[in-house]
Formats: sequence, C-alpha cells, structure tokens
Amino acid sequence: MDKYFRGTRIDADRFRDGMALLTGAVNIVATRNGEARSGLTASAVCSFSAEPPRLLACINFSGNSFQQIAESRCMSVNILAQSQEELAKRFANMLGSEDEDRFDYGTWTELITGAPVLTEALAAFDCAVEEMLVAHTHAVIIGEVKDVIVNGGVKPLLYSNRAFTTTKGEYDEFPLDYIIASPWH
Ligand SMILES: Cc1cc2nc3c(=O)[nH]c(=O)nc-3n(C[C@H](O)[C@H](O)[C@H](O)COP(=O)(O)O)c2cc1C
Repeated sequence: MDKYFRGTRIDADRFRDGMALLTGAVNIVATRNGEARSGLTASAVCSFSAEPPRLLACINFSGNSFQQIAESRCMSVNILAQSQEELAKRFANMLGSEDEDRFDYGTWTELITGAPVLTEALAAFDCAVEEMLVAHTHAVIIGEVKDVIVNGGVKPLLYSNRAFTTTKGEYDEFPLDYIIASPWH
C-alpha cells in the first residue's frame, strides 16, 4: 500500500451513510452580532478540555451563523432536551419560513458574552471564541467557556440514523447536590 494513502474508495454519500450511524446530541449554537441574533442546530459539538474549560463546534462556513460568530467572537452552545425537537427543526431550517426569527421560539437570555442562551436547555455554555480552524467547507470553533447553566433532569434530544430520538428508559430529576458532587462538574 502507498505510504501516503493516495486514492479513496468513498464519495460524500458513502461518508454520510457511515456518519449517519454516529448518534449525537443535538445542540443550538447561537450568537449575537450587534442587534442581530443568529443560530443553527448542530450535532458536531464536543468537549475539548476541562482545565481550562473549552468546547468545540464544527460549523459550515457558508451558513449565516458562521459569519456572525466570526464577527462577534462569541457563541453559546445549548444542549437540547427531547421536548425541544421542534426548536431543533426551526434552527435547522426544517420548519418555518426563511424570513422568520428563529428566536421567537424558546426563552432566551444573555449571560456574559451577549450570545443568546436558551434558559430551558439541558445545559448551556456561554463562550468567547478562542480559535477558529477553517478547512474545506467547515470551521472548527474552539469556545472559551465563560459561564454555564446546568438544568438536567430530562431526557436529551439525540440524532441517529437521520432521525430524532432519545435515550431508553426513564430517569428522575437529578438533585442539585448530585450535580455539585459529581467528579465531572
Ligand atoms: C440534527 C442536525 C445536526 C446538524 N449539525 C450541524 C453541524 O454540526 N454543523 C453545521 O454547520 N450544520 C449542522 N446542521 C445543519 C444546520 O442546522 C442548517 O444548515 C442551518 O439551517 C444552518 O443555519 P445558518 O445558515 O443560519 O447557519 C445540522 C442539522 C441537523 C438537522
């Protein structure tokens, strides 16, 4: 085999077929640039480091939200609950019209950076943009986490095999002292 692995046996559709099987949490990444708020549904989000607290989001740079994040240098990452599927669809342009304000739905506030934060998200992270790596169609955006809301207590919204879903089984609301005592907190 060639040392540099030249050539490929796959195209974008085959790649998508594989990635469709990677089950992911569904989030809304949002920003405020002056008076303009924008945001999109994004599953390409993950923790980057805890010390210091950083996360990353992969955002298509041809979309409106990327341009606004690049200018405002702030973003929120809002982890959605199962009950927020409709909101996920609105922020992915799957529901509503192009000219509708996506922020007319849900309860939004601001913390430190000014990015809109969804108060009823499962958890929400208010971030300053620390780094952006642009490659091909997307940008990896590293967020310096300035503040966090932890709600918990309800099932997450997941996206798997091109459909919205959630976890199996029921669980009770986490008591706050559990969250504070958690080694991950
Ligand atoms: C479940 C789901 C996950 C998505 N994940 C991402 C993502 O991680 N990054 C991205 O750029 N777009 C993602 N999208 C597509 C955007 O939500 C969609 O293109 C949106 O309309 C872009 O809005 P904008 O033009 O305001 O940026 C996802 C869509 C869905 C339904």
